[in-house]
Amino acid sequence: MSVPRYTRPAMALHWLQAALVLALLGIGYWMGTLPKGPDFSTAVALHKSLGLCGLVLIALRLAWRAGHRPPATPDSLPRWQQIAAEHTHRLLYALLVLAPVCGYLSASFTKYPMKFFGVVLPKPWEPDDSLNAVFNLAHKSVVILLTAMVALHIGAALFHALRRDGILSRMLPGKRQS
Ligand code: HEM
Ligand code: HEM
Repeated sequence: MSVPRYTRPAMALHWLQAALVLALLGIGYWMGTLPKGPDFSTAVALHKSLGLCGLVLIALRLAWRAGHRPPATPDSLPRWQQIAAEHTHRLLYALLVLAPVCGYLSASFTKYPMKFFGVVLPKPWEPDDSLNAVFNLAHKSVVILLTAMVALHIGAALFHALRRDGILSRMLPGKRQS
């Protein structure tokens, strides 16, 4: 079955962001298991730097997406799956904005410098423990929801791959249909 596909820039942005977000979730949960010390500090520094890349990437992706409509969802899919996909994608986009924004705000209210791969960035405000706590909780809550939505999204992609209904191929370069 042939279905309309995403363009190459859309695929490139999708897979770059997928890899980055999976790495950020992995490093984020892993650093929570480390005792305070040099390894923890290195992991947090890497997480924050990659997280800032995530912030830039979602801004680029949304700007690109605003001018480029995605391919129509195939009519061959049951209506409930079309609606579920549309809402899941919207929620994913919202969480992909909220996760790095809350992470950045939380880190920017601490007393530690904001570094991007070692380069010190200016911090817009003074340290504030209560605001750090608010955005820290927000960041942790958002990433739990993001983890659940990513799991659902990957599960749905696998479901379509097993059915070989052409949905996974929409996001894959080349001519394969799966
Ligand atoms: C193994 C991992 C993944 C696979 C196999 C996968 C597969 C896909 C496929 C096939 C589509 C197109 C769905 C359609 O045609 O309706 C899609 C869309 C999308 N994916 Fe993924 N994905 C993966 C990981 C991720 C991750 C980690 C994220 C972000 C956290 C993500 C975010 C999105 C978004 C936002 C869309 C909607 C694109 C749009 O229409 O604007 N995906 N994905
Ligand atoms: C898409 C982007 C991001 C994702 C998916 C993400 C994911 C995560 C995850 C999974 C955790 C562990 C949560 C837990 O232990 O319950 C975490 C913690 C953390 N993140 Fe992020 N993060 C992102 C962006 C950022 C950014 C941009 C910053 C700061 C510049 C940041 C700073 C932090 C900090 C400081 C923690 C440790 C919180 C603590 O243990 O008190 N994150 N993040």
